[in-house]
Amino acid sequence: MPLFRSLVLAIARHPTVERLARETPFLVPLVTRFVAGETMQEALAVARALADRGFTTTLDLLGEDVRTPTEAAAATEAYAELLQAIARCGIDATISVKPTHLGLRLDPELARLNLERLARLAQRLGGRVEVDMEDSSTTRKTIELFDRLHCTYGDHLQLALQSYLYRTEQDIERAVERGWRIRLVKGAYAEPPTVAYPSKAAVDAAYRRHMEALLEYGRFVAIATHDDAIIRVARGFARRIGVGPEKYEFQMLYGVRRDLQDALRRAGEPVRIYVPFGRHWYPYFTRRLAERPANLLFLLRQLLPRG
Ligand code: FDA
Repeated sequence: MPLFRSLVLAIARHPTVERLARETPFLVPLVTRFVAGETMQEALAVARALADRGFTTTLDLLGEDVRTPTEAAAATEAYAELLQAIARCGIDATISVKPTHLGLRLDPELARLNLERLARLAQRLGGRVEVDMEDSSTTRKTIELFDRLHCTYGDHLQLALQSYLYRTEQDIERAVERGWRIRLVKGAYAEPPTVAYPSKAAVDAAYRRHMEALLEYGRFVAIATHDDAIIRVARGFARRIGVGPEKYEFQMLYGVRRDLQDALRRAGEPVRIYVPFGRHWYPYFTRRLAERPANLLFLLRQLLPRG
């Protein structure tokens, strides 16, 4: 899988491939399966519909790697509007932000100011900002940024950690020590074997270790996966050690394993759906393709001439 992922992400980065993908109408059904729409209104409508079915949500305005401070300011402003709109709607929804969307790669201090603005607003409105984790070139800076702001904004912030990284073992210890709320994910980027486990089996084993440590000793863990086996282990483990839903929730991506989302909800488990929206869908979409060969095959079948 890591090899498949690296290959798909490398091909997808090619400007011609991106241009073709953006222009082909055949892609629309597959993109709209994973992306809730282009506007905040569309995303809020999806969040409301999910709330009616018993799901909470986290809304992600798609975008990453901004090139200027002005772009970072525009993203921050849009996220501030989103936090306010969520509070007005009265739904249980958080926002998910990528540090490089707020300017982390340009200047960590700029990203801090932007994230702090959102954290302050979330604190005032009783909301929460979830900080996504991006590729490993940003991990250290993202964790430093989170650590600094967590001292002031506490549970109004939550951090994603990726089990595929070797360093996450120590990051979990730090999270437990500092009382951070964590979203645990396997990891979606193409990483070299010098920083990340190269096999799926090793990533899954690491995920189970991290999940059990967070359930047992952590402040709160969002178990963000569609992996049936891991979800079964998590539910059994939580029951055995007497941990209830005030200390965990499941999180899944919009459009992925809807059957499992519904089944967990019916079983009374807390499930939060990650709802991405916006015009900059391409990098997010390619990571979803790279997660599953069947998605890519479906796409190729749409692109091939019929007859
Ligand atoms: P795994 O890849 O083993 O998949 C388990 C099963 O889920 C598959 O067999 C398949 O049935 C289904 N499935 C998984 N992906 C699918 C897809 N794209 N299309 C269709 N079916 C699919 N990553 C990251 O690096 N930083 C982050 O901040 C986040 N944030 C995040 C939030 C939430 C709510 C989720 C659920 C995931 C993330 N991720 C992420 C992505 C994560 O790292 C990981 O790439 C995906 O969740 C896929 O891994 P699974 O844990 O689902 O397991």
